[in-house]
Amino acid sequence: MPDVFVVTGGAGFIGSHIVERLLAEPTGASVRVFDDFSTGALTNLPFAAAAGPRLEVIRGDIRDLAALEQAATGASVIFHQAALRSVPLSVEDPLGTNDRNVTGNLNVLEAARRRQVRRVVYASSSSVYGAGLELPKREAQPPAPLSPYAVSKAVGEQYAGVWTRLYGVETLGLRYFQRLRPPARPRLGVRGGDPAVHPLGTAGRAARDRGPAGAPAHGGMRRQRAALARRHRQGQAGAGLHAARRLRRGLRRAVDFFR
Ligand SMILES: NC(=O)c1ccc[n+]([C@@H]2O[C@H](COP(=O)([O-])OP(=O)(O)OC[C@H]3O[C@@H](n4cnc5c(N)ncnc54)[C@H](O)[C@@H]3O)[C@@H](O)[C@H]2O)c1
Repeated sequence: MPDVFVVTGGAGFIGSHIVERLLAEPTGASVRVFDDFSTGALTNLPFAAAAGPRLEVIRGDIRDLAALEQAATGASVIFHQAALRSVPLSVEDPLGTNDRNVTGNLNVLEAARRRQVRRVVYASSSSVYGAGLELPKREAQPPAPLSPYAVSKAVGEQYAGVWTRLYGVETLGLRYFQRLRPPARPRLGVRGGDPAVHPLGTAGRAARDRGPAGAPAHGGMRRQRAALARRHRQGQAGAGLHAARRLRRGLRRAVDFFR
């Protein structure tokens, strides 16, 4: 039986790339997008028509546990990307951020537990490191969140670890660094700015009590900075394309981990 994957926030910037990558699996996996379309859009899924019945799009809110449970039924992995992804908005609306990012994240873990979903791969954030200047960042560094958004991501990691230890739901957190903006998707829910500062390929497994990390974490920061400067010299288009390639490589690693 081909896998069924759920991608929360699958109509968003990163989520839509995960969906595209999962649909390319030679095993013929099918994908359920679970998204409230608060920042996401169907236009981020231009491959939907070609995917046919292998792609199901569910309009739903991760704050709604019953809806999540239904979406998780029969799934083998949930890729959890849905969140309010803005530090300034989290400062303006800390309670709303907590609802979406902490309660929502908890619901995803709980839906996975109740529906026997084997694994949850979730989006964390480099913001959990805080403002420390120490480089390279290491996963073992203690979290030092400076905003409600960063707190929500740090709490999400803690909950995931507990759901693994207590309930056996396997979890993998990826601390994404700065936003990425491949040029092919002009209307994504991401603000403008420098593309490809720290592409997804540098994301590593969140600090976790479950053995040595399989994927390499943050290596060669100096090399990355030099490469970034080079890309800036080459212009934004070049940097954007490079970011897209790095994004694809990073996603491939995350997906391969769960084979
Ligand atoms: N883009 C980055 O640079 C970056 C950096 C660090 C972490 N992250 C994390 O990566 C994940 C994806 O970020 P993104 O850049 O793709 O953001 P995005 O805003 O483009 O995507 C988020 C998606 O989640 C959906 N969503 C939001 N609240 C929801 C809810 N309550 N229920 C269901 N769906 C909901 C939105 O509609 C959207 O489609 C987020 O968890 C974010 O915190 C992103």
